[in-house]
Amino acid sequence: MAKSLEIRLRGISATFQHESRGDITAVKDLDLIIQPGEFLTLLGASGCGKTTTLRMIAGFQQPSAGEILFDGANVTNVPANRRDIGFVFQNYALFPHLSVFENVAYGLRIKRQNAAKIDAGVEQGLRQVGLQGLGGRMISELSGGQQQRVALARAIAIKPRVLLFDEPLSNLDAKLRVEMRSEISRLQEELAITTVYVTHDQEEAMAISDRIAIMNEGRIVQIGKAEELYRKPVSRFVAGFLGNANLVRGTALAADGGRVTLDIVGHRWTVATDATVTIGSVVDAVVRPEAISLSRSDGALPGIVEGRVFLGEKAEYRIRTGDLELLVVQWNPTAGELLAAGDTCSVNLPAAGVQLLV
Ligand SMILES: Nc1ncnc2c1ncn2[C@@H]1O[C@H](COP(=O)(O)OP(=O)(O)OP(=O)(O)O)[C@@H](O)[C@H]1O
Ligand SMILES: [Mg+2]
Repeated sequence: MAKSLEIRLRGISATFQHESRGDITAVKDLDLIIQPGEFLTLLGASGCGKTTTLRMIAGFQQPSAGEILFDGANVTNVPANRRDIGFVFQNYALFPHLSVFENVAYGLRIKRQNAAKIDAGVEQGLRQVGLQGLGGRMISELSGGQQQRVALARAIAIKPRVLLFDEPLSNLDAKLRVEMRSEISRLQEELAITTVYVTHDQEEAMAISDRIAIMNEGRIVQIGKAEELYRKPVSRFVAGFLGNANLVRGTALAADGGRVTLDIVGHRWTVATDATVTIGSVVDAVVRPEAISLSRSDGALPGIVEGRVFLGEKAEYRIRTGDLELLVVQWNPTAGELLAAGDTCSVNLPAAGVQLLV
């Protein structure tokens, strides 16, 4: 098997000229290193520049500034068909009038491989995606999930050095999406091909990636493992983008030895933190809904249940305390623990595992 490749984006930008709207810079001075064999996901809202970044890695789009390096070699001006990439598109981009076999064979024919190699390559590709024996079918005779598998087989049949995915699962129903994402993950691990995956689905990103780069307005705002991004978001934007978050604003009353005491809605709340906080400053704390607990007894922070959704394995609450509204998740609630709208309760904020944005 070929050695995995490192991708390096150095200060790349993409500017599009618009006659009426003026120039749009879709990607802004972006630096990114994707490790050999890594599965990296670009995650962000619509229009943040994910597809444009992916297209520049593929060579479908020329950057207006910056360089792209594959294993240290500058490929910025190398055309797409000479970059050894496999690309899986959102709408599959299959040839509907060709058979499954011919669709998967496409890249191998372009590479001018002989018939025996094409047969072997297609067979292996179809087997890897679980479609063995279906080479003779027409694309129109396949389900959406099967078509997505053909697109995947076509991308890997050429034995690419880089795999690129642009929202490949968004046309599938929820159950199939979950099934396919674990297959993509398994296959990528098996082939150890450096992979860049684009999605705006945070759960998909968390399930499938080694690392996630969160993008906003053409830039990467934070990059890391799902767990790091979830536990240590650097900004309000990241905190709100990956999972649900409460932003609790308080004034620092005391800070010493890795602990900070904040005044929130007139109560003292002490949390363990490695952040440096100036006394008297206003601090936003990111508190995840599942980190807050509720009880019926009187506690430090009195609350009232404004809304509740019971979902079986968990209950989700909107709790008001002073001028603060909190989202709280209670896992596996017993009948005694379950609160109802209008109930008064006591809110217990966690003493650790809170990210202070300072
Ligand atoms: N060929 C183009 N010509 C002009 N503007 C473009 C072109 N391609 C993209 N843009 C603009 O660049 C910005 C980023 O687009 P891009 O397709 O990269 O976003 P995206 O993150 O993939 O969004 P989505 O999740 O909707 O696919 C958008 O404002 C878009 O309108
Ligand atoms: Mg896109």
